[in-house]
Amino acid sequence: MIKALLVAGTRPNFIKIAPLYRAFEQHPELSPVLVHTGQHYDEVMSEVFFRQLKLPEPDIYLSSGSGSHAEQTARVMKELEPVLIDLQPDVVVVVGDVNSTLAAALTSKKLHIPVAHIEAGLRSFDRRMPEEINRLATDAISDFLFVTEPTAIENLHHEGHSDDHIFFCGNVMIDSLRRFEDLARSVEQRKKYGMEAGGYVLVTAHRPEMVDQPDLLILFMKSLFRIAEKYPVVFPVHPRTRSRISDAGLDKELESTEKLYLVDPLGYFEFLSLITDAGLVLTDSGGVQEETTVLGVPCATIRENTERPCTIESGTNELVALNPDVLFDAVERALSGKWKKGSLPELWDGNAATRVAEKLALALRGA
Ligand code: UD1
Ligand code: UDP
Repeated sequence: MIKALLVAGTRPNFIKIAPLYRAFEQHPELSPVLVHTGQHYDEVMSEVFFRQLKLPEPDIYLSSGSGSHAEQTARVMKELEPVLIDLQPDVVVVVGDVNSTLAAALTSKKLHIPVAHIEAGLRSFDRRMPEEINRLATDAISDFLFVTEPTAIENLHHEGHSDDHIFFCGNVMIDSLRRFEDLARSVEQRKKYGMEAGGYVLVTAHRPEMVDQPDLLILFMKSLFRIAEKYPVVFPVHPRTRSRISDAGLDKELESTEKLYLVDPLGYFEFLSLITDAGLVLTDSGGVQEETTVLGVPCATIRENTERPCTIESGTNELVALNPDVLFDAVERALSGKWKKGSLPELWDGNAATRVAEKLALALRGA
């Protein structure tokens, strides 16, 4: 059997790892071992996803926790190293672009353990983003590069990677979406806030580029106050953003804005349910750009760039500037049905993890 260590540390990682774990378990040659790095640890950022996505308890739980980039990355490396030495996996599988991804890839390669990177090759070409550094560095040392869209193959070619270790298998995050879509639709989370389908805006924001800059955060919140004068807005708040909102002294104004619902981060089903019925999703998330594209829901991404260009080229995503007029206009366009319709990106069909398992087993057999 091929012992494959699957590493996950953050909310979006759990959503990506769940279908991989299942596909590996079902594959006759693969034996998965699940490692949680502890980067996200609150119930609403971690356990709820294990429960809802039917992931087993992690075999290994590290306690990297929060900290500066160096502290967090170093803690994962330091704690993962003895685990790798002890377990001697045949391959380490990392997903996405968070600090846990890079830390696990580096630690494994230094021990001569092959690394497979799921969601390789995505590039924003913005090296101020911590995720871009994690993507570049992880891809540079990974042995097997699994990509979600054709532009990622081009990016990897430009960086000198050859086709023999690049695999286009689709998008594992969409496997989770497809598996739980019906269940999520039945939740009808919008009813909790008395909102009509298609008549409200769903918001997420957690990029340090925006929420860690008080002037930008205030501009963003003012934009939401303005939208909420006319339409209901629901905003499940990431813990990073929650503390920045308090630091910026915005709590009072929030209390007096009636149709703006700031709530704790939601479980996967509850959040997906809100996406499916939203008139517009306003976000800076990576994964949410993909989910809205698949569900055909208008998405305005408040960023200057995206590493997921297919969500713009074939999907429902549009990049928008952080400007109250621009954001209000996006809401008006979307809620009056004047938003592009979009189509499904190639291989985002719910079966990506099975393809990854097959390709990886084959590649390791040949190695
Ligand atoms: C991380 C990833 C980002 C990803 C996001 C997904 C990096 C560099 N960033 O950002 O790419 O999009 O996860 O959500 O890896 N906190 C809690 N409870 C938790 C987790 C975090 O309170 O369970 C707070 C802590 O104050 C922490 C802060 O949130 O300092 C930021 O957490 P961290 O994991 O460092 O980065 P994210 O912003 O979550
Ligand atoms: N998500 C969730 N609850 C929330 C917000 C997001 O379940 O309150 C899910 C969302 O459906 C997507 C993933 O979390 O699958 C995206 O995570 P996030 O935006 O934190 O990270 P990114 O994708 O930007 O790295």
